[in-house]
Amino acid sequence: MFELRSVSKSYGRAVVAKDLDLSLGNDRIVGLVGPSGCGKSSLGRVLLGLEQPNAGVVLFKDRDIHRLDRRDRMDFRRAAQMVPQHPDAAFNPRLLLGTSLREVFRFHDLCPKADQEEYLAATLEHVSLHPELLTRYPSQLSGGELQRLAIARSILTKPSLLVLDEVTSMLDVSIQASIIRTLQHLHHEHAATYLFITHDLDLAQVFCHEILELSQGRLKPLDLQPL
Ligand SMILES: Nc1ncnc2c1ncn2[C@@H]1O[C@H](COP(=O)(O)OP(=O)(O)O)[C@@H](O)[C@H]1O
Ligand SMILES: [Mg+2]
Repeated sequence: MFELRSVSKSYGRAVVAKDLDLSLGNDRIVGLVGPSGCGKSSLGRVLLGLEQPNAGVVLFKDRDIHRLDRRDRMDFRRAAQMVPQHPDAAFNPRLLLGTSLREVFRFHDLCPKADQEEYLAATLEHVSLHPELLTRYPSQLSGGELQRLAIARSILTKPSLLVLDEVTSMLDVSIQASIIRTLQHLHHEHAATYLFITHDLDLAQVFCHEILELSQGRLKPLDLQPL
């Protein structure tokens, strides 16, 4: 459903993708690993259409995502979501968290208007958060709570592709484990493809169904090691 075809992308001398092919959409958890700076985040952004490739095409349901009509573009926006690395950067510090999350309803028709609050509360429950947190500002939450909220926002549209960019790397190890459990639970409840970006190969081994290593603009499948 989501595809990179002969995609190249570089910033000056930093090569992120070199004639790269990738196909995602089998509802698996796919690890994207490699050392810091190898281009994992950039590749995720290219896949989501947040950046243009220098060459090649990015496809959603066989259509070039940079040439979609309005309706298909909304369909794509809804189907492909990202959770960024820094939970603090995910929300506008000046807005109540409820305001930030409810914005999603303005762009996407997710449920009847009368059911929005219930829909929101149910989504928060999926990530083990109390709706009361929506009446606070980002600075009043812990990093772990904010990351859960960022995940909640990303799943409001029930995406079929979720790009998780180092979602646990800013968090304490114990909180990291609980976020991973939540993601496992979410994946179990709602089938979707997760692209789990991490520089932590051990974590990818535990969480992912398959692992791709990005190195010098190319992707190489890694064998999962028996634990
Ligand atoms: N917008 C940008 N402008 C210039 N260089 C960039 C930009 N984004 C990323 N880079 C460079 O591309 C390389 C890959 O970055 P990034 O995708 O963030 O790697 P990773 O996520 O694997 O750590 C780095 O050398 C980075 O400096
Ligand atoms: Mg990165």
